[in-house]
Amino acid sequence: MNIIEIIEKKRDKQKLTKAEINYFISDYVNGKIKDYQASSLLMAICLNGMDEEETTILTEAMLNSGDIFDLSKIEGIKVDKHSTGGVGDKVTLIVAPLLASLGLKVAKMSGRGLGHTGGTIDKLEGIPGFQTSLTKDQFINQVNDISLAIIGQTGNLVPADKMLYALRDVTGTVSSIPLIASSIMSKKLASGAEVIILDVKVGKGAFMKTVKEAIELANLMVKIGTNIGRKVMAILTSMDSPLGNSVGNNLEVNEALLTLKGKGAIDLTSISIEISAHLAYLAGKFESLKMARQKVEENLKNGKALNSFIQMIKAQGGNLTKDLEKASKHYSINAKIKGVVSAIDSLKIGQAAMLLGAGRMTKEDEIDYKAGIIINKKPGDKIEVNENLCDLYTNKELNDEVKELVESAFHIAKSYKEEPLIIKIIES
Ligand code: URA
Repeated sequence: MNIIEIIEKKRDKQKLTKAEINYFISDYVNGKIKDYQASSLLMAICLNGMDEEETTILTEAMLNSGDIFDLSKIEGIKVDKHSTGGVGDKVTLIVAPLLASLGLKVAKMSGRGLGHTGGTIDKLEGIPGFQTSLTKDQFINQVNDISLAIIGQTGNLVPADKMLYALRDVTGTVSSIPLIASSIMSKKLASGAEVIILDVKVGKGAFMKTVKEAIELANLMVKIGTNIGRKVMAILTSMDSPLGNSVGNNLEVNEALLTLKGKGAIDLTSISIEISAHLAYLAGKFESLKMARQKVEENLKNGKALNSFIQMIKAQGGNLTKDLEKASKHYSINAKIKGVVSAIDSLKIGQAAMLLGAGRMTKEDEIDYKAGIIINKKPGDKIEVNENLCDLYTNKELNDEVKELVESAFHIAKSYKEEPLIIKIIES
């Protein structure tokens, strides 16, 4: 077997065998296949695709390229959630403690933000003292004690994805559904959970811009997870507008706390309830989805979910006795015309938050935890001339580019048509 034949086969739209896919991954990871050959195969996959069987084999080969987290020492049902990335997406900070408060075990590895999308680990690192890296024993003991731990991705988890993703990023081969599905699922499956919900974001601020491609990606990921023996479902949710009222790390932790106190924004609260209820039901914790939803709502109201969050913060060394700080400079963006907010472009808001300091352009950039945007008018809200739309927080000098970007993100019209937040549920 040689890599040139494999490239030619995919170039000619043929199906690759298990032996060929395994050979590609193992010889690429151990350096025998060169970057230019791997890029050529990735481009052939991008153009000619892979079917479900090939994508499952690719995922398994990537999954087996490094360590697989063994959660067998954790007693109970191990659950996980994954978001494909959004703006203002602090759902993990709400759903993880909610699930823990139901008695499910959440041993979660999360990522950092890149570009205009945020990451859970960055948000948690804004909490003074909070440790996002624990030893394996500390991690497992904490989940056994309090049902919840969230850490950054550790060790030699899916090295094939680290190498392939870096290559895809610079060779125009990111946007391929089989490559995205295998990249996401290999990492999720390596983290060890038995029951997984995938929050596939769709819209302006998301990876998947159309419902059609999001359904295709979600279907494929659910099938791969199921083929590999896990219980997996996907929920397609809108990312046309930012989720909740805040974008930026400390601001989002503050909003997550408010939501766990039952005072959160409607969109954020309802997505968090739906994801938690569906996952708890899929995990077999309740006889019906309705019962799962009732219990989730109850634990949001009675403070049990908040208590799980606070327990996790303490267990991981964090000190969260008051709201986290905002950046020192503050600017208001006011409406220039009267009407109703008909949309808020989440991509523009995400880009503006990044320029204020809340995100990074490259993995090496430092972020400013205190920077971000608080949105005071959401789609559907009426607005008068000069009324406040949102507040910007930064430690940098604010330039006109950011102000104009934020102003242009707010669409003000005469009327507003409500679009569904939850677009589709995909079960295996
Ligand atoms: N997220 C990933 O982890 N991988 C991709 O390929 C795309 C998004």
